[in-house]
Amino acid sequence: MTDFTATRARFAIPEGVIYLDGNSLGPPTVDAAARVASMMTDEWGALLIRGWNEAGWMDAPALVGDRIARLIGAAPGSVTVGDTLSLRVWQALAAALDLMPERRVILTDDGNFPSDIYMAEGLARLKSQGHCVRIVAPEAVEDAIDDTVAVLMLTEVDYRTGRLHDMARLTAKAHAAGALTVWDLAHSAGAIAVNVGGAGADFAVGCTYKYLNGGPGAPAFSYLAPHMVGRARNPLQGWLGHAAPFAFAPDYAPAPGVAGMRIGTPPVIALEALATALDVWDGVDLQDLRARSIALSQAFIAGVEALDAGLTLAAPRMPEARGSQVSFRHPQAYAICRALIARGVIGDFRMPDVLRFGFAPLYVSPDDVARAVEILGEIMHSGAWDRPEFHARAAVT
Ligand SMILES: Cc1ncc(COP(=O)(O)O)c(C=O)c1O
Repeated sequence: MTDFTATRARFAIPEGVIYLDGNSLGPPTVDAAARVASMMTDEWGALLIRGWNEAGWMDAPALVGDRIARLIGAAPGSVTVGDTLSLRVWQALAAALDLMPERRVILTDDGNFPSDIYMAEGLARLKSQGHCVRIVAPEAVEDAIDDTVAVLMLTEVDYRTGRLHDMARLTAKAHAAGALTVWDLAHSAGAIAVNVGGAGADFAVGCTYKYLNGGPGAPAFSYLAPHMVGRARNPLQGWLGHAAPFAFAPDYAPAPGVAGMRIGTPPVIALEALATALDVWDGVDLQDLRARSIALSQAFIAGVEALDAGLTLAAPRMPEARGSQVSFRHPQAYAICRALIARGVIGDFRMPDVLRFGFAPLYVSPDDVARAVEILGEIMHSGAWDRPEFHARAAVT
């Protein structure tokens, strides 16, 4: 059994804060600051450029990738880490489209994160071959998969509502129609028991600053299915995806396997913070994680609905249809969110009227859920959310 009291003790969450925003930015681990400081002094400071060889910096993307692999049901050696998620989406999609020269449709849903759609549209425009991004409702995706689709590009867990796609079923349907799949795991890696291997996904990408707690702007990861090795080519042919970067050859020759999806210089300091955060996952059973996440989310939904405060559930009611996030709608969602934050309950707001609450089992406890519901009740029933300062919009919501 996973000891969630022990995992919680590994996070540095300020006193008095109930942190329900790990679906946006995870908190730091207790060890992160010291580990990063020592890396900077003992490795960067002491070794200077020798760190690339002597401290193994160049291998960090693969080593950290292997630790993420376990969390997404991927085989060792099939995940690399670096660069940002938007780039990784573009890269995976472009690699998939290259393998589908006869087809022109990128199928996605309107619950996908806008950056993924922007990236797909930009890529379609750049290709100038008549590609289009077909956007349907999440519930309509399955029926929209047909033999015109080149690539099914989806985010497994909807950033706004927490709705969870059935990766195995949709991947099988895409493959049966002759299409490839690109899955964005930003809201599922570390939130649920992702299984890219079991689902047969072709490409997957994700970020590490949400449920993996790597820190703001932490690097993204790419998964390349074993059946894609030797087939998929990296369209972003940066030198570190080259088989021999330090040969400085004029011609590009891809490194074998997922190493061929590397692009540029690894962000070594950020990888150290991420590696420290991944230590917490040692000993965490993903089935326990899922059970705890469902228990926390169900308790929250029941508590909020019992308040009878005009908040409408915007997430699927059935836990198996959700990730680890619960959303509610309210016309005054923004002000309520600000009022909650002022009382130490940190969730967030998404346009136009959505309040999001993430339940990261590594550090959110049943007591946190009970207290968050209590504070929400006080704010709603007293009208405390309706102060002018809670209505003023900040740049980042
Ligand atoms: C599902 C999803 N995809 C892509 C992105 C964009 O990631 P980045 O800003 O790291 O490029 C995000 C950011 O939150 C996201 O949630």
